[in-house]
Amino acid sequence: MAIKGVISLPGDKSISHRTLLFSPFTRGKNIIHNISTGLDVESTRQCLLNCGIKSNKNKQIVEIFGSELSEPKKPLDCGNSGTTARLLVGLIAGNQINATIFGDKSLSSRPMNRIIKPLEHMGAKLVSKKSFLPIEILSSKLNGINYKITVASAQVKSCLILAALGAKSPSHFKEVLKTRDHTEIMLKNMGAEILVNGKYIEVLPTKKILKNYDITVPGDPSSAAFFIGAALIIPNSNLILKNILFNPSRIGFIRVLKRMNAQIQVIKKWKELGELVADIQISYSQLNSIDLKSKDIPAMIDELPIFALIASQADGITTVKGAKELRHKESDRIKSICNNLKNIGVKIIELKDGFVIEGPSNVTGGKIKSFNDHRIAMTFEIAKLLTSENIIINNTDCINISFPEFKDTLNKINNS
Ligand code: S3P
Repeated sequence: MAIKGVISLPGDKSISHRTLLFSPFTRGKNIIHNISTGLDVESTRQCLLNCGIKSNKNKQIVEIFGSELSEPKKPLDCGNSGTTARLLVGLIAGNQINATIFGDKSLSSRPMNRIIKPLEHMGAKLVSKKSFLPIEILSSKLNGINYKITVASAQVKSCLILAALGAKSPSHFKEVLKTRDHTEIMLKNMGAEILVNGKYIEVLPTKKILKNYDITVPGDPSSAAFFIGAALIIPNSNLILKNILFNPSRIGFIRVLKRMNAQIQVIKKWKELGELVADIQISYSQLNSIDLKSKDIPAMIDELPIFALIASQADGITTVKGAKELRHKESDRIKSICNNLKNIGVKIIELKDGFVIEGPSNVTGGKIKSFNDHRIAMTFEIAKLLTSENIIINNTDCINISFPEFKDTLNKINNS
């Protein structure tokens, strides 16, 4: 058995959300090719349709027409999507309309104080129970703000940038650690006045209509991570991934794996609308263990579930610390990773802000709870390739949140 083939993947989820959410700053037609096919991105599109934005969808091509947002007639449903909820609250607050935003059970338990507090400093009027969804936004004019973002979160940063574009005066932000910068790259390309200097960001209010776009979204590196992981840990594997987003703030996973002796080569690298894109080749590798600290985490935050499985096959003790944010994802991912890996024979110890894994572990059969978390379900679909025993995952429908094509793609490259 080996992972072999040449594949390209549906568009990056983070960029796909942004291509939709930035349309109200334009007028007329914007076109998005290779948009993420996941439910999360469709939640964003539906919310915008409910705010009067017009859009057509034909498979992976979306047209979205820029216009002013209008007050939605019903509450906006963000489903399971943290990016939809947090960015939408910022966009709506900056556009001075009334709206209520809600989500599913998991999203309703994720912290929103991180956006409520700074938005209220800017003058936003937000009503919520104990800072969780649902949030009611009452139209009010915002002021600029000087604000240190204390949690390493691109969702918080992007929420505040969107609000700042609609404020009366300039805003200045400082990030505690640099996070993914798709919002800054795309808005700057559209003509917004956003100045970035390392962790410092200045946002000037938009007085003009921004430029239209016709974008092909590069393949999602967070979806690619599952196949990169499979190819590294299944003997004789050799995989080529084409057209993968290679933004440095997103490929911490690849940088860390290379430090562990992973054979990952860049075949070709180019830029598309300010974003780096690459074709890469991955082959089976004898991996060493590694110690990860807080500074390593933001650029691989979504890849930590599959990283834990990979580390279980590396030689030695791997430590992940400074990853407390994992407790606030679609599930408490520290708990979901540790409990599930233990159930299939991996030696892992849970820490407050991470975990310690002893490798190489012999993966056995066992029962897995996905906690309705797409990245947990996909990680354990890959774990199945490491054993002839039965791994039973209680619910894998949640994979559709980010990557409906996951199982078909895996079948295509799994030469068992
Ligand atoms: C995202 C930011 C990250 C990431 C999420 C997508 C984004 O969340 O985990 O999947 O598109 O801005 P945080 O900003 O909460 O870390």
